[in-house]
Amino acid sequence: MNNTDFLDKLNSRYATKAMNGESVPQEKIDNILEAIRLAPTSSGLQPFEVFVITNAEIKAKIREIAWNQPQVTDCSHLLVFTAWDNYTSERINYMFDLTNEIRGFKNEGWENYRQFLLNMYPKNSAEDNFQHASKQTYIAFMSAMMQAEYEGVDCTPMEGFDADALDKILGLSEKNLRSTLLLPLGYRDTNKDWLVNLKKVRKPMNKLVNVID
Ligand SMILES: Cc1cc2nc3c(=O)[nH]c(=O)nc-3n(C[C@H](O)[C@H](O)[C@H](O)COP(=O)(O)O)c2cc1C
Repeated sequence: MNNTDFLDKLNSRYATKAMNGESVPQEKIDNILEAIRLAPTSSGLQPFEVFVITNAEIKAKIREIAWNQPQVTDCSHLLVFTAWDNYTSERINYMFDLTNEIRGFKNEGWENYRQFLLNMYPKNSAEDNFQHASKQTYIAFMSAMMQAEYEGVDCTPMEGFDADALDKILGLSEKNLRSTLLLPLGYRDTNKDWLVNLKKVRKPMNKLVNVID
């Protein structure tokens, strides 16, 4: 691997507008899910869950509340990113206990940090906590998109859907989750995809980067 491989993948990935319905092998899906699992999150809390949808009826229902975007039904696997609807003591403790179990020791600094979070998050409003958790899903989302590119799988990042309606379709409130993002995974339909041959557009560096020496 050379040090421009990742940049090459960033260049070749694009928001696929039409998919051909071909199935993505499970091994590739598993690798994409592993990339989500490995994404960094604030305090390592991983405040999200992902739903993997292949059921055609459910996909069709979701398409109705996702601006009728065809990738939702023409993809192979539809990933739905959902964030915790709130940070609770139970959820925070789970991750700290898991860390202690995996590392095999308790550490005073880490336990103090647990108490700090237990004193902070549960005091915030559920909406503020959800907003914080939802940001973490965007980081994992990028991880998934890039692993998909390495797997030769196309995808479309999507915010274009009615989150409340999707929460109802998937019964998310009973699971104390709220949907944040969709990621259809599949293969491009080169005949129908208007974006596939267009140049990638990005603003120049001088409109993006401010250097303070
Ligand atoms: C968070 C997010 C939400 C997006 N929502 C949609 C969407 O609902 N439908 C869609 O076709 N593209 C969507 N896009 C794709 C963007 O329009 C696209 O990434 C951007 O124009 C840059 O093009 P590229 O990804 O092909 O380089 C979304 C992208 C992001 C990052």
